[in-house]
Amino acid sequence: MPVAVITGAAGGIGTATSRVMAEAGFDLALIDRSEARPPGGAAGLGLACDLADPGSVETAFSAIADRFGAVDALINVAGINHRSPVAEMAVADWDRMMDINVGGMFLTAKFGLPLLERGAGKAVVNMASVSGHVATVDYPAYVTTKAAVESFTVALAQEAATRGIRVNAVAPGWVNAGFTDKALAETDDPDALHAAARDAHLLGRMAEPEEVARAVRWLASDKASFVTGQTLFVDGGFMRKH
Ligand SMILES: NC(=O)c1ccc[n+]([C@@H]2O[C@H](COP(=O)([O-])OP(=O)(O)OC[C@H]3O[C@@H](n4cnc5c(N)ncnc54)[C@H](O)[C@@H]3O)[C@@H](O)[C@H]2O)c1
Repeated sequence: MPVAVITGAAGGIGTATSRVMAEAGFDLALIDRSEARPPGGAAGLGLACDLADPGSVETAFSAIADRFGAVDALINVAGINHRSPVAEMAVADWDRMMDINVGGMFLTAKFGLPLLERGAGKAVVNMASVSGHVATVDYPAYVTTKAAVESFTVALAQEAATRGIRVNAVAPGWVNAGFTDKALAETDDPDALHAAARDAHLLGRMAEPEEVARAVRWLASDKASFVTGQTLFVDGGFMRKH
């Protein structure tokens, strides 16, 4: 059975991705801050791991190596968001955003590439965002990390190609998941923000997490066998409105 490692597996997009990959016949190794359980009785391994901590990530991948021996798909979904203008942002908050959103992907690649080399699928999919292209006011750290995710994706695609490993990114617009819930909770006028978020897309609505997960599944599959170093926008036409 092929094996998929999914970070941020307890979150909105991560849960949907776990479900979709299980339906596609993958065994799951699920990484989150606390142990994530495979959905609907699917087979798998749940690992509590702080992606900002190199030792924690190394330990998680050692457990994955012991259990599965090889990995076919490494799917980096985990991320955090922090609302603060630059002038008011604590240095520690900036650093934590970089450590989790960008550093976490570096660490899973560093410890995951040897396992991917032994797998048959050989695909990495990183979660980017339209925010890497269209900055949102008061979220400077987030937009910076999401632009960096795409640069890292290209750099890793160049490096890993000789080992037969493809590396791509998915960039959603607004998704009906954890980040959007948090943004709605932080605003004084959630109805106005929800309406603006829907209106930001050509399709006039947000994505459901499964719509993002299906794009991840495609990039991780052999159907995308000649696709590497790319960002796939799953954004309901967001980028065509901006
Ligand atoms: N929801 C959206 O509108 C949207 C849009 C574009 C991109 N994204 C991206 O999709 C991803 C998931 O978003 P979501 O809405 O599902 O968010 P979410 O908050 O529901 O899920 C994020 C998950 O990452 C985990 N995580 C955070 N820090 C971690 C750490 N240090 N170690 C291990 N796990 C950690 C969290 O525990 C959580 O389960 C993020 O990378 C986000 O940037 C989301």
